[in-house]
Amino acid sequence: MAKPKVFVTRMIPEAGLAMVREFCDADIWPGDLPPERAYVLEHVQGVDGILSLLTTKMDPAVMDAAGPELKVISNYAVGFDNIDIPEATRRGIPVGHTPGVLTETTADFAFALLISAARRVVEGHNYTLAGKWKTWGPSLLLGQDVYGATLGLVGFGRIGKSMAKRATGFDMKILYHDEFVPADDPFAVEVGARAVDMDTLLAESDFVSLHAPLLPSTHHLIDAAALAKMKSTAILVNSARGPLIDPAALYDALVNGGIAYAGLDVTDPEPIPMDSPLLTLDNIIIAPHIASASVVTRDRMAVMAANNLIAGLTGQRLPNCANPQVYG
Ligand code: GLV
Ligand code: GLV
Repeated sequence: MAKPKVFVTRMIPEAGLAMVREFCDADIWPGDLPPERAYVLEHVQGVDGILSLLTTKMDPAVMDAAGPELKVISNYAVGFDNIDIPEATRRGIPVGHTPGVLTETTADFAFALLISAARRVVEGHNYTLAGKWKTWGPSLLLGQDVYGATLGLVGFGRIGKSMAKRATGFDMKILYHDEFVPADDPFAVEVGARAVDMDTLLAESDFVSLHAPLLPSTHHLIDAAALAKMKSTAILVNSARGPLIDPAALYDALVNGGIAYAGLDVTDPEPIPMDSPLLTLDNIIIAPHIASASVVTRDRMAVMAANNLIAGLTGQRLPNCANPQVYG
């Protein structure tokens, strides 16, 4: 029997790619940068499955180009805002994603951004590199304490909860806002995290960390009005999706003392344009969307994405499905 045809939008770790190659007739885009739109539209034609990355949009045009044989889209990411989920569901196409395996790795990095912003780690490194370190200084690069501070988690899903776990080790007060997590959530109770409305979270937190998916309702969730509600000493951390924050409003807040600092792993757009005014600031750390980037985790994501793909191709339920409603 002929192997199912799949298009893979980029090289993923060999742990998963080997499974895809073995099971499928795989057309794999070999470039380091995402394929052009026209290339995608051409190469999905007639495929049974697509293994996609968050850098490539899976919209109705791509699904149309693929045609009626398309049985599954497997995203190599936990987030799936690059995929038109209602459209995939309408067409009966299950969409895979990679939750769970990257939770702790992503929380590690978000916490790293939080501490690095609070304690000005990157500024310190740049200071050293610039040859400015002449002596120990009583007021050199003073930052803010993490221990005992209040952490506000916008989104209390897997990654938000893992942030809370870390925060308990720093004796932080933990607030969260998540419409799907009730105040008596057992884990929240266990770590002493308090459910609050968004305004309270913004007003009371020393650190605000974003762990919500990108949806029409969360686009620019942190806008000028939200920033104005935050403490002038507050630090904003985003390891979720760039468009949760209005970048122009963030720039204004960071320049005008509205908030103290930002640590971003994601930007709007990505990559951040080199003429973005955010890049001129000292009170910001910007990483290139690497929160889940550990060797072990990226291998696990690759295996999970391959398993989702293969399940979809063989008509089985995806082990990790982003649109379970597709199964009726
Ligand atoms: C990365 O951003 C992911 O969603 O896995
Ligand atoms: C993602 O895995 C989340 O639930 O935060």
